Amino acid sequence: MPRKLDVSCDGVYAYSIYIERSFDKLPEALRTLPVSGRRVLIVTDTNVAPLYLDEVKEHCKTCFEYVDSLVLTPGEEHKNTDSISEIYERLILDGFDRNDYLLALGGGVTGDMTGFAAATYMRGIAFIQVPTTLLAQVDSSIGGKTGVDFRAYKNMVGAFHMPKLVYSCIGTLASLDKAQYASGMGEVIKHSMIKVINGVDYYHYLLTHKKELEARDPDVLEETVYYSNLIKRDVVERDPKEHGERKILNFGHTLGHAIEKCSHFSYTHGQCVAFGCLGALHLSHITTEEENNEIRSLMESVGLDTKLKEMNASEILAATRKDKKMDHGHVSFILLHDIGQAYIDTHVTDQDMASALQYLMQTGKILNNEA
Ligand SMILES: NC(=O)c1ccc[n+]([C@@H]2O[C@H](COP(=O)([O-])OP(=O)(O)OC[C@H]3O[C@@H](n4cnc5c(N)ncnc54)[C@H](O)[C@@H]3O)[C@@H](O)[C@H]2O)c1
Ligand SMILES: [Zn+2]
Repeated sequence: MPRKLDVSCDGVYAYSIYIERSFDKLPEALRTLPVSGRRVLIVTDTNVAPLYLDEVKEHCKTCFEYVDSLVLTPGEEHKNTDSISEIYERLILDGFDRNDYLLALGGGVTGDMTGFAAATYMRGIAFIQVPTTLLAQVDSSIGGKTGVDFRAYKNMVGAFHMPKLVYSCIGTLASLDKAQYASGMGEVIKHSMIKVINGVDYYHYLLTHKKELEARDPDVLEETVYYSNLIKRDVVERDPKEHGERKILNFGHTLGHAIEKCSHFSYTHGQCVAFGCLGALHLSHITTEEENNEIRSLMESVGLDTKLKEMNASEILAATRKDKKMDHGHVSFILLHDIGQAYIDTHVTDQDMASALQYLMQTGKILNNEA
């Protein structure tokens, strides 16, 4: 069943999220916006363009007066101000003005950069998110955080800029490689652990559908993207600029970011979040060993390692202190009172984190040896 969700900002309607199997409903969704007589620049990358650009372009042509596309080089190493310059240059050459649109077709890298270009070109133009990775559909396309990396500093330059529309096509998830699919599932599993929305037991939904998730069953993926979006929407609506509750979305991220950095990004982001979730769960003391095995089995089914390779724990601990989530000298660490009930804790010590890391290096399975 296709799904639509409306997102508000400061109590006022901001944009809708469409979750569809195909791109067929894209024109209908676009026409809910003032697109007639306007121009759009579709920004994508060289992996996504051969798969989906033509189709999306054709749909855009039925709505906009003029459609152009810009195909960038993929990868986090290109999420920088040089790529933003390429976008500005094309917008200027095409004569785009404040009434025109940018459309991001791709993963979180494309979405973050296109959103940032939209936030800053002529002091802000409209942008549309068409996320094509699981991570982008469940996480980065929602909430209005945009930005780029600056030198070695990740997401150091950015702006809050809400999209006008998010159109998630579940069909695009079929072409994701195993590692990218697993990475998105790391964030999905995180969502299921932090909050219960509308009484839905999302966490048990995932546990009981692990075979379908392994097979990328579209019905189950549609429900999964929808539940994750419900949770992220609820959290960002209450705290759009991350002054308080939005921090719970960082569950699994204190250890996760530090592992990601110390592994020199050889693990994907979502894989590191999955490790971080297992570590935080260990420190929350709320699950039995049998329950921990169930969680690990779900992670392994979708291609996530549950055992961390041998790494230098003190280096990882040092990296947690450099993480920007420090609060008055304490690392603010998200723990769980129960599955679906996250809270912000500032009492987790280095010793606690060291024991969680040791646990991660001793328990579970390594599926992907190249990391
Ligand atoms: N703004 C936010 O709130 C937020 C939240 C989380 C993450 N992020 C950012 O998102 C980025 C990570 O996003 P990501 O995991 O989507 O990575 P990504 O954008 O690098 O995409 C991963 C790879 O998959 C390819 N790809 C995309 N869609 C595909 C498809 N359907 N089929 C085949 N290949 C496809 C891409 O070309 C790329 O090579 C990071 O830069 C991170 O900082 C932002
Ligand atoms: Zn994340």
